[in-house]
Amino acid sequence: MSERFLLVKQSQPLHGTVELTGAKNAVLVIIASLLLAEGKSTLYSVPNSADVRCFIALMTELGALVHFDVKLKALTIDTTMVNSIEVSPEIMNKMRASILVMGPLLARFGKARVALPGGCLIGARPINYHLQGFRKLGVSLIEDKPFLSASISTDSSNPIHDRVILEYPSVGATENLLMYATLKPGETVIVNAALEPEVLDLIDILNKMGAKIYCEPGQLIRIIGVNKLNPVEHTVIPDRLEAGALLLAACITKGSVHLPNARADHMDLFLEKLREMGHEVYVGTHQTPLFPLLGISLKACQNPQGVSIKTGPYPGFPTDLQAPLMTAMALSKDISTVEETVFENRLMHVKELTKLGAQITVEGQKATIRGVEKLYGTELIATDIRASCGLALAGLIAIGETKIGGVHHWERGYDKLEEKLRFMGGNINLIEASNIDNLMLPNGELLKKRIA
Ligand code: UD1
Repeated sequence: MSERFLLVKQSQPLHGTVELTGAKNAVLVIIASLLLAEGKSTLYSVPNSADVRCFIALMTELGALVHFDVKLKALTIDTTMVNSIEVSPEIMNKMRASILVMGPLLARFGKARVALPGGCLIGARPINYHLQGFRKLGVSLIEDKPFLSASISTDSSNPIHDRVILEYPSVGATENLLMYATLKPGETVIVNAALEPEVLDLIDILNKMGAKIYCEPGQLIRIIGVNKLNPVEHTVIPDRLEAGALLLAACITKGSVHLPNARADHMDLFLEKLREMGHEVYVGTHQTPLFPLLGISLKACQNPQGVSIKTGPYPGFPTDLQAPLMTAMALSKDISTVEETVFENRLMHVKELTKLGAQITVEGQKATIRGVEKLYGTELIATDIRASCGLALAGLIAIGETKIGGVHHWERGYDKLEEKLRFMGGNINLIEASNIDNLMLPNGELLKKRIA
């Protein structure tokens, strides 16, 4: 039987200069936004991750013509022939972000029929904020399991509000509602909106397409509806989560890394926490004096200090870097603490880290981490995208070898991150084998039978 896993061995300090790909969390919603305009658009710096390929399949199902030049990281999507407003449960179940086509389909065609979304098991993850917001903006919703049918209401007794107040600054709800509002007549205001860098990248491309969207003080987004949006060319922002993974790989192995296209202004608090641990973090490069916040370099300290974090909406500590940072905390001096406030079930990696010898206790949504000097490789299971990253990082320092299952999560979120880590000197390989006896790894090493 075929088996797939990440095989990570204790590695020397990682060093190197690495170019980041575009942000996976930005590109998914940006692909959805292209439905708002009729015609051919091109996106650059598109990661070839499983979620991106899944979103491409979704767009094709709707009738779009798609060409993905993986080598050039250029994705061309022609939405002229889009003739369906329905997204099947097969696609929806693979990826929660699929719900993001609802706003654009409603805006362009006045209706959408989408199956309810799936995705990582990191919490209940309802879509009530999306649906409450759509209702406020005059959309009528009918549940027709497994589908949800949405259409622009013609019922005049149902008043069309132009102000949506989000109970929580949900990234997905903000994105869905603001895409819908771009083509809605009049003015719409989203109060308590999410302002993550990925949301701002979406606003950037929408404004390039001809939308009128303004971010205002007090976490408020004002959208003035226009009649039509136009096709566009856009380069997706660099992935701050990939950047976080590479910086932590250097921290954990006591190496160094230079990320010339990283946006330091997208990861202020994370960088501050790395400095607090004792790592040397430099922002900006001499080559790009016009962009003082472009480029991050890090030199790891030998004896890092524990830190405390509490995840929260941007500019708070990103929940997606919580699991990767916890691996570094597990190897730091004294006590570190983590409080997860964004998702209610996002400490599942703790159990796996403790299998490596990490000293972590959990009470409710809080984890207390007592640093240890060594971790010991063993077999682990990744439970979500960012957990897979935390475990892979741990494998780089754990004595012996670490075998990580659940690699589909890794592939959903990252575009061959294992290759970038290997380039920096990491001993990490994605293994796909029906018979792993005598398997030759990409680095020329022979995989021993006892892994099986
Ligand atoms: C996006 C990111 C994800 C990141 C998260 C928070 C993508 C593809 N994914 O996910 O990587 O971890 O932002 O930064 O961009 N909630 C509700 N009802 C809703 C919507 C959300 O209760 O209608 C809750 C969620 O269950 C969660 C919290 O709000 O507890 C935040 O979710 P949200 O900001 O919407 O995250 P996503 O857009 O799903």
